[in-house]
Amino acid sequence: MTTTLVDHTFRKDVKRCFENQTYAIPARWLYDLRGSELFEDITELPEYYPTRTETALLKENGSAFASAVGPKRAVIEFGSGSSTKTPHLLKAIDPAAYVPIDISGEFLEHSASLLQQEFPDLPIHPVEADFMKRVALPEAVADMPKLGFFPGSTIGNMIARTSVDLLRFMRETLGEGAQLLIGFDRIKEEQILVDAYDDSAGVTAQFSLNLLHRINRELDGDIAVDQFRHVAVWSDIYARIEIYLEAQSDMRFSIGENLYALSNGQRIHIENSHKYGLRDARLMLRAGGWTPLHEWSDEQDYFTLMLVEAHPYKHAP
Ligand code: AVI
Repeated sequence: MTTTLVDHTFRKDVKRCFENQTYAIPARWLYDLRGSELFEDITELPEYYPTRTETALLKENGSAFASAVGPKRAVIEFGSGSSTKTPHLLKAIDPAAYVPIDISGEFLEHSASLLQQEFPDLPIHPVEADFMKRVALPEAVADMPKLGFFPGSTIGNMIARTSVDLLRFMRETLGEGAQLLIGFDRIKEEQILVDAYDDSAGVTAQFSLNLLHRINRELDGDIAVDQFRHVAVWSDIYARIEIYLEAQSDMRFSIGENLYALSNGQRIHIENSHKYGLRDARLMLRAGGWTPLHEWSDEQDYFTLMLVEAHPYKHAP
């Protein structure tokens, strides 16, 4: 296998987990091709309510979005992936252009061309970039009013500090006067949350365990994947679901040249999925430089879409 920058960072992150005994691996490594397929399967599970709840909100509130946002904005989607929710928004608001931003160029071109078939008259300008930094937008949309779109409660996979950094980068990318439509998964009954991340068909467990398979595949490991179990727990203090891989026996394994040992019961932290009260979400958005304008929630208050605006900074009293 050729050594790319990604392989190098993956190796470094995995090495840190076992050698420095941090027992944590960044969640971004869950999404290789197999991981992305398994995530698509998760979105259709009966227990995983976020995708269908947010999609219904997007479908049902089109005319409210249209009047809040106004026509002829350039829609900038952060981490567009397969852009499955985007058509509902684009149909509702009469956009001037669409700019999907994603780190995976191949995926981006494919989903942009599918979307172009559905919206033949809409100028689409895909940008391959890491949206965790400021992104230079195409010249073609420079003078258009902008609407950022960040669905899926993807922000929930970041700790608070990183979320605020991201919101500030989005503000820099989009500029003053821009709006942002962003999805937040709400705090709810613990069992509903745990079930959403530990489904009865075991798809989420496969998604987590795929990380170990990926280490074996890409980093030449021999981890006994069947000796681990997927664990999803609610942390009330952090208001998040935490996902771990837990060793089910004492074990030794190698990754490349390196030998490691794990004790029975040792957990490796692989993902957080934060949930929000409305005030939590508003405060985080304000910390990131965004002023709340409108909110749309489902009847059960499972999920909320928030529309916010980048007002000029003022001197605070
Ligand atoms: C992508 N992200 C918003 C999902 C979530 O709900 O936190 C990832 C996920 N992990 C396990 N199930 C879903």
